[in-house]
Amino acid sequence: MKTFQTSAAWCLGILFISVSLITTGSSEVVGPADPVVALTGDDIILPCSLKPSVSAEDMIVEWTRLNPKAEKVHLYLDSRDSFVDQFPSYRGRTSMFNEELKNGNVSLKLTNVTLSDAGRYRCFIQTLKKETTVQLLVGAVSQPVISIDGTKGWGVVLKCESGGWFPEPQMEWLDSSGTILPADGPPERHRDSEGLYTVRRHVTVNRTGNNRFTCRVNQLEINHLKETEIHVPDEVFPKSQVGLIVGLLIAVAVVVLAASAGVFMWRKHTEEKKCRKQLEKQKIQSTELLEDVNKRKAPSSFVQNLTEQLMAAKKQIEMLSKDKDDVTREKDGLQGQLNDVTREKDGLQGLLNDVTREKDDLQKQTGQLEKLKKDKEKLRNEKDKVIRERDEHIQNLTGEMEKLRNEKDEHIQNLTGEMEKLRNEKDKVIRERDEHIQNLTGEMEKLRNEKDEHIQNLTGEMEKLRNEKDKVIRERESDGMEDMEMGGVF
Ligand SMILES: *[C@@H]1O[C@H](CO)[C@@H](O)[C@H](O)[C@H]1NC(C)=O
Ligand SMILES: *[C@@H]1O[C@H](CO)[C@@H](O)[C@H](O)[C@H]1NC(C)=O
Ligand SMILES: *[C@@H]1O[C@H](CO)[C@@H](O)[C@H](O)[C@H]1NC(C)=O
Repeated sequence: MKTFQTSAAWCLGILFISVSLITTGSSEVVGPADPVVALTGDDIILPCSLKPSVSAEDMIVEWTRLNPKAEKVHLYLDSRDSFVDQFPSYRGRTSMFNEELKNGNVSLKLTNVTLSDAGRYRCFIQTLKKETTVQLLVGAVSQPVISIDGTKGWGVVLKCESGGWFPEPQMEWLDSSGTILPADGPPERHRDSEGLYTVRRHVTVNRTGNNRFTCRVNQLEINHLKETEIHVPDEVFPKSQVGLIVGLLIAVAVVVLAASAGVFMWRKHTEEKKCRKQLEKQKIQSTELLEDVNKRKAPSSFVQNLTEQLMAAKKQIEMLSKDKDDVTREKDGLQGQLNDVTREKDGLQGLLNDVTREKDDLQKQTGQLEKLKKDKEKLRNEKDKVIRERDEHIQNLTGEMEKLRNEKDEHIQNLTGEMEKLRNEKDKVIRERDEHIQNLTGEMEKLRNEKDEHIQNLTGEMEKLRNEKDKVIRERESDGMEDMEMGGVF
């Protein structure tokens, strides 16, 4: 019985150990699929956990950095953190999530990340002899700063600068519609002692509708983008000739307005002064009269005199009041004039606006003209080239024609020479023929003579022969007769 119980206990124990071994043994250590991206100064988590989840509370977890340099980062041992052999740069910056360990979450928290923290980290569960790695990318970014760096042609040169970046970012200039502008060359960059990049790029911009331009700095690996916009005031752009003319027109308009206003004010002022002076005089006279009356308690003649004086004064007052009316009328007239001047001013303002619009148009047209001019220049150059080529061709042709002509002349000369030679030869042949004919004629003459001579000779000889024959015949006849005489002999 006891043996059975012991065996059962053993069996159960083995089963328990097997099950726990199977469950823990089948767990994998899992990290993130993508690198962890951080900026300097961030607090980050390097994820690492057991899947399926089993408690890691009693396991040994080792976090180390593999490259660029192997360093001990964090150790969890005997159910607590151990900082023995921890690399100094990680001191006080690492921790694990104690509440998460029972869920198999052994992620590491790293605070105040620096550029030198970047690298590949290993999460190693020594108990299971299983591990995974996590890539940490650390970047640095900062806001770009734009400044106006002068003017070039009709444009304004802008400079954008941004330091404290890692890795090296791209920098671009854009207009307000988001179109990338052609910068004045590639970005300049340099790296400081901390390994951070400073990038700088210039652009020459033309006047646009709103004169707003953006500098964009972008780091794709850490997926960060920073932008700064600038508004360039119109006055910063170089003034054109049209601008100068408009400025002069404005100045002239202002001077004319000021002069009219000044004249009006001066006239008003002098009229008022005159009026005031007369009133003052009147007052003084009245006061004097009153004093006289009071002083003397005067007799009737004096009263009459006084009455006369008063009448005169009244008349004078009437005149003055008329004067005053005149002045008032004049003032109204001047007011009217002022209104006219104001209207004129408004008209001028309108004109000014028109001129400004025209100026803008002109500027646009100037741009187009510039382009046309350039095109024309190009065409002219091309035309010149064609003409040059044609001239060259003509020269070549002329040269060749000259050569051909010379050759022809030479040929003609040769032919003439040969003809001359042939003619001479012909003449020689003719001469020779004539000579031959003459010779032949001579010889024929000779032969004829010889024949005649021969014939004469023959005739002579025939005559001789005939004579001889006749002689012979005669001789024979004479002989016969003798024979006959002597015939008996035979
Ligand atoms: C592990 O714990 C941390 C901190 O609570 C949490 O951010 C992370 O998502 C957890 N990881 C998993 C796989 O649950
Ligand atoms: C973060 O680290 C930098 C340099 O490594 C240090 O100057 C700064 O004081 C640290 N910040 C915190 C909050 O610890
Ligand atoms: C500015 O204008 C000039 C000529 O008018 C032109 O060559 C240049 O490309 C323009 N710049 C921009 C950024 O449009």
